[in-house]
Amino acid sequence: MRTIIEPFRIKSVEPLHHTTPEERERCLVDAGYNLFLIPARDILIDLLTDSGTSAMSTGQWAAVMRGDESYAGSDSFFRLKAVAADLTGFRHMIPTHQGRAAERILFTVMCKPGHIVPSNTHFDTTRANIEFTGARAVDLPVPEAADTQARLDFKGNMDVAALESLIAAEGAERIPLAMLTITNNSGGGQPVSMANIEAVKNVCARHGIPLYLDACRFAENAWFIREREPGYGDWSPKRIAQKMFSLGDGCTFSAKKDAFANIGGFLCSNDDRVAQQETNLLILTEGFPTYGGLAGRDLDAIATGLEEVLDPDYLRYRIVSTGYLGRHIADRGVPIVEPPGGHAIYIDAARMLPHIPPCQFPGQALAVELYRHAGIRSVEIGSVMFGAAAQHELLRLAIPRRVYTQSHIDYVVEAILEVNARKDRIRGLEIVEEPPFLRHFSARFRPLA
Ligand code: F0G
Repeated sequence: MRTIIEPFRIKSVEPLHHTTPEERERCLVDAGYNLFLIPARDILIDLLTDSGTSAMSTGQWAAVMRGDESYAGSDSFFRLKAVAADLTGFRHMIPTHQGRAAERILFTVMCKPGHIVPSNTHFDTTRANIEFTGARAVDLPVPEAADTQARLDFKGNMDVAALESLIAAEGAERIPLAMLTITNNSGGGQPVSMANIEAVKNVCARHGIPLYLDACRFAENAWFIREREPGYGDWSPKRIAQKMFSLGDGCTFSAKKDAFANIGGFLCSNDDRVAQQETNLLILTEGFPTYGGLAGRDLDAIATGLEEVLDPDYLRYRIVSTGYLGRHIADRGVPIVEPPGGHAIYIDAARMLPHIPPCQFPGQALAVELYRHAGIRSVEIGSVMFGAAAQHELLRLAIPRRVYTQSHIDYVVEAILEVNARKDRIRGLEIVEEPPFLRHFSARFRPLA
């Protein structure tokens, strides 16, 4: 059979709430045209993020009931520890309440003012946590990644020559660690090849720089390697993931992505001294090292999710279904970041709406129009989010794991194509109110005439 189906059936359902065009217009006005400020019950299909929005499995709900809520030495912790050790091979693992808590602890321990932390592309919380320590976060994506239309197998790769030059120019002693974000979220959800991880590791090892993986979407990355990189076609996703982790000296992980958990994360390291300092900080702000700010039931859900996500049937469906949305809109004229990524499709709003300049926020204008037309929530990744530093004007449609069926996605395709057919009439926006930082969460806008 060639038809790829959702590898699950549905046991528990959550009703969707339809709104009228008039209700949506009222919601937009009340929210200042910022979709973060619209109550979730007024959203029909929510593609704001794939983080913490997964549907948990029967196995995970059973694990939740098994959760051991002991303050110290909980069984749930030891189950997670065993699963994480088997998968990552790292010596130390501390649970955290989500990915950015792991980031804050890692960079507080490793970074000082004047330090530099290179990555293929830092996610925004990663960058913010590095800069909060006084260090500088540097993105070194491969140059081809700048062209949204270039179709590369591993467009998330780091530019290894640029890494060498950075080390030569700045000195290895100023670089306390390097990172690789797999898959590369801010770069379009694009994968990183095993060859690139190996090359980055070699450069880092030569200079005594530890390499950390931002492993939020490690399983999706492993699947892309299996599908696209010569030599891995008959490897299991787990074996590929184990090899990826074996090239790192540690990792940060948000369990809200590839562990199908609604909350949680962890921080791993092979360095005993660093791990001790991290544990001390963890106790100060997150909790005792065997729960790290989570309930025992969360630890158990993560442990189960980490095993489920490596199921080849799941990963095949996941990557094919994201590509389905991408191809169905791109092949009918909507410019997306090519090729489709693992967890999301990114529309190139600057290309789709050339009559709206970046200062009038084409990505935000498109997000508003898609909500107005069909009740779909997406997120701008462009000048609203990054200000003048924005490289592209993108609209991200992130796909929650195991949540929507193909007919939901067909509805999204139809809505996008209808909006695209009358895109010339979409107008830009201006900001009327904004906070001093991370303005995309709370800024208010006004439509331009
Ligand atoms: N790293 C990457 C690559 C991420 O995508 C995220 C979160 C984090 C770190 C931080 O993890 O949210 O658990 O604190 N990304 C979400 C998103 C928010 O919508 O892309 P967290």
